[in-house]
Amino acid sequence: MREALFTTRITEMLGIRHPILCGGLGPAIADADYVAAVVNAGGMGFIVAAGFPDPDAFREQLTRCRLLTGGKGFGVNLYISRQAGGAQRLERHLQILIEAGVKCVETAGASPEPVLPMLRDAGVKVLHKVPAVRYAHTAARLGVDGVIVVGNDCGGHPGIYGISSMVQAAQATAELSLPIVIAGGIGTGRQLAASLAMGADAILMGSRMLVAKELAIHDAYKKQVVRGDGTESIVVKTGLKDHHRVLVNDSAKAVAALDASGSSEFEQYRAHVMGALATQAYRSGDSRQGMLDYGPAVVFADAIKPVESIFDEMIDDARNALTRLGQLTRQLKNDHD
Ligand SMILES: Cc1cc2nc3c(=O)[nH]c(=O)nc-3n(C[C@H](O)[C@H](O)[C@H](O)COP(=O)(O)O)c2cc1C
Repeated sequence: MREALFTTRITEMLGIRHPILCGGLGPAIADADYVAAVVNAGGMGFIVAAGFPDPDAFREQLTRCRLLTGGKGFGVNLYISRQAGGAQRLERHLQILIEAGVKCVETAGASPEPVLPMLRDAGVKVLHKVPAVRYAHTAARLGVDGVIVVGNDCGGHPGIYGISSMVQAAQATAELSLPIVIAGGIGTGRQLAASLAMGADAILMGSRMLVAKELAIHDAYKKQVVRGDGTESIVVKTGLKDHHRVLVNDSAKAVAALDASGSSEFEQYRAHVMGALATQAYRSGDSRQGMLDYGPAVVFADAIKPVESIFDEMIDDARNALTRLGQLTRQLKNDHD
C-alpha cells in the first residue's frame, strides 16, 4: 500500500490514508467484502443498506466488515426514498448501524433531515450525496458533515440538470465551506489531484470500481467493463424525471423509447426497471436486461484487479500529476527570473 500523499479535512474526519471514497453500489454488490477491501486499501467504502432489507442479513454484513477490517471504521449507504414514509422505513437499519459502531453514512435520494438527529447523537458522520450544487447548500444548512457532489458523468443518478463534474467541482468549492467530495467520471489519480487542486477534500468513485476483484459480480460482466471505452452509457428515465445513467442494453433501449414517447406513467416502465433484473445480470454476467448503473469512467478500468492495486495506481498517477505541475510552475518561475 502506498504512503499517504495527501491530508485533507476528509482524510482527517474519517481517519483514512487516501482521500478516496468508493460510493455505494447497489443492489447488494457493495457488500462487506468489497467495502472491507476499500477500507483496508486506505479509502472509505459504504455497504448499501437497501441491498440487505432483512435486518439480520444487514447486521451480518456489518459484523463481517468489522471482522475483515480489524475494527477500522467503515461506512453504510442509506438511500432515502422520496415516497411518503421513506425515512421511517430506515429506522431499523439506522438502529443496527449505530449499534454496530458504523463510522459514517453516505446518504442519497431525498433530504437527510429526518435521519440526521439519530446519526448525529450517535456520532456518525454524514456525507450527503447530491447531483447539483444547489442541493448541497440545503444539506449544508441542515448540518451534514460533508457533501458529495456528483456530476453528469456519473454512473447512476446524475439529476435533472446534467451539469459536468468539472463545473460542479469548481462551483462547489467556491460556494461551500464544509468538506466537499467530487464524483462523476473519476477513475485516475490525475483527476484526484485536479479535484484537490480545485479545493475539494476527496473524490468518490463507482464505475471505475466495477472491475475490483473483491466485488461480487460475475467475471463476464467485469470483462465486459474492461472492454468498454466509456461510450456505452445512456441517460434514461427522463420521462419520469428520475434521470439514470446506465449501460445501453435491451432494457435501457426500451426505457429510452418510453422516454421518447413522452410517457410519464411508471407502470409502463416497471417491467424494464425492476431491481431484480439488475441483480440477475450481475449474478449471471448476462447484461442484456436490467438498469445497470454505468458511467464513462469505465474507460479507466483496464483490468480486473484488487482494490489496493487500483488505489496504488491512482496515488502514483496523482504524484505524477503533482510532478508535472511542479515542472510547469518551475518553468514559469524561470521565465520570470
Ligand atoms: C453499479 C453501480 C451501482 C450503484 N448503486 C448505487 C446505490 O445503490 N446507491 C447510491 O447512492 N449510489 C449508487 N451508485 C452511484 C455511486 O455510488 C457513485 O455515486 C457514482 O458511481 C459516481 O460516479 P462514477 O460512476 O462516474 O464514478 C451506483 C453506481 C454504480 C456504477
